[in-house]
Formats: sequence, structure tokens, C-alpha cells
Amino acid sequence: MTRQPRPSKNTKKKSKGPQKKVGKTMLKDNQKRTESSRKWLLRQLNDPYVTKAQQLGYRSRAAFKLLEIDAKYHFLKVGITVIDLGAAPGGWTQVAAQKLKVGASKGNAAGSHLIAVDLSDMTPLKDVTMFTADFTEQSTIQAILKDVATKSAGGVDVILSDMAAPASGMTDVDHIRIMNLVEAAYEFACLVLKPGGTFVAKVLQGGTEATLLTRLKKSFAKVNHFKPPASRKDSAEVYVVAQGFRGSPGK
Ligand SMILES: C[S@@+](CC[C@H](N)C(=O)[O-])C[C@H]1O[C@@H](n2cnc3c(N)ncnc32)[C@H](O)[C@@H]1O
Repeated sequence: MTRQPRPSKNTKKKSKGPQKKVGKTMLKDNQKRTESSRKWLLRQLNDPYVTKAQQLGYRSRAAFKLLEIDAKYHFLKVGITVIDLGAAPGGWTQVAAQKLKVGASKGNAAGSHLIAVDLSDMTPLKDVTMFTADFTEQSTIQAILKDVATKSAGGVDVILSDMAAPASGMTDVDHIRIMNLVEAAYEFACLVLKPGGTFVAKVLQGGTEATLLTRLKKSFAKVNHFKPPASRKDSAEVYVVAQGFRGSPGK
């Protein structure tokens, strides 16, 4: 399980060396850290969402983004089927499992079905089907389709994609990479979503590319962009929320 780092006890002791104050928590200057890891650590230590995630047992602060998106658009309900793409370490999956009551009762009496997919290994969650695989591989899509056919014959109600490739530091490259992942998730959504279904995906600001936006508007009754308060202000990420899937032609 990936846990957010906790402030080490050392940070509270008085150090002999000079200390720089950023926000509320100080770090010793004599620790061996690169500038970027130092900035990352300070940001984590001073981030109220990180603290709250630790208090509530969420695996990532990202959990609050899904809570906020769902509080606005109300698509997570008991008894539905949800696929969470780019799920690790599992904050969104935990939120979806709570909302769907997956793992809450013996034999999953709620009738909900939750599938989580990620390149990285993820600590199991009760009654959640997990695939450690590249979502863009045909074999992964086939495996998910098989699971859906077995457990959710009616199709899928919600596709979530928080997928992101590691940041390259080059804005254009990151944008293309994330848009490729969103396109793949959108095409998959068109294949498996039930009419009326919801598609939520992380994109980068500038919004969804015009071509994808046009396609989304054709496929869904409502398409919105939303930046949840838990999404860092200095991050270009924003979420596209498409609701009311019109159904795939030929289905
Ligand atoms: C921002 S993290 C997701 C955080 C997660 N939603 C949470 O709440 O903990 C993005 C994830 O996307 C995953 N990812 C990126 N490309 C992927 C791909 N092609 N297939 C599956 N997962 C992918 C990464 O491995 C990473 O774990």
C-alpha cells in the first residue's frame, strides 16, 4: 500500500543548522534531498488534504477529488457497475467502493460491481476486481470485457479515468500522453457504457481537445469541465464529466 509520508519526528526537534520555513512545517536544510523532492515533501506536509486522507484512511488525497466530483454530479450509487482506470494507489476506488457499498455486505448483496485497473500493483480491496495491466493493451480490454460479461450483463454505468503518465516536464508531451489515454478511455466507454451512463476523465487545461469534445458532445447529453477544489491550483488538470450516454450505434 502506498502511504503518504508522515512528518518525521526529527522535523519537530530543534536543529543546529539553519531552517527555512515554508507554510507551517519546516525541514532541516542538512538533509540530503534534491530541490524538487524537498519542495514535494514540504507541499505534502502542509497539504490539509494529505492530512485528512491519512486521518480518514484514504490511500491518496485524490480520493477527495472524486468525492467532490460526485457531490456535484451524483453518479455513484448502490447497485451499479463502475470501472476505475488508473486506480492506484486506490483513493478513487475506496470512494467508489463506499458509494456502491462494495465489500460492505456478505456476498456483495448490494449487487454493485467495481473494477479497478492500473499499471501498478494495488493493495486489494474487498470484492473489487483488480487488473494490474496496461489499459491500452487489447488483452487488458478483453479481460475487462470478460469480467463485465460475467458479472454485469447489462453493461457498465460509470467509467472513471484518472490515468496519467508520469510527468515529463514538457507541457506538450504531457498533454499528448494524457489525451491519448483519455481517447482510449472514451473509445472503451462507447463500447461498454449503458445508455444513460457517465464518463469522467482527467484532462489537462485548455480543456478537452476540440475533436474529442465534439465526439463527447455527440455521444453524451451533457458534457462539463470541472476542477474540484482538491485539485491543486497550480496543476493544469481538470475533469471532463460526460453524462447521459446516448448509446453506441449498432448496439
Ligand atoms: C494520478 S494516479 C491515479 C490516482 C488514483 N485515482 C487514486 O485515487 O489513488 C494515475 C495512475 O494512472 C496509471 N496509469 C497511467 N497509464 C496507465 C495505463 N496505460 N494503464 C493503466 N494505468 C495507467 C498510473 O500507473 C497511475 O497509478
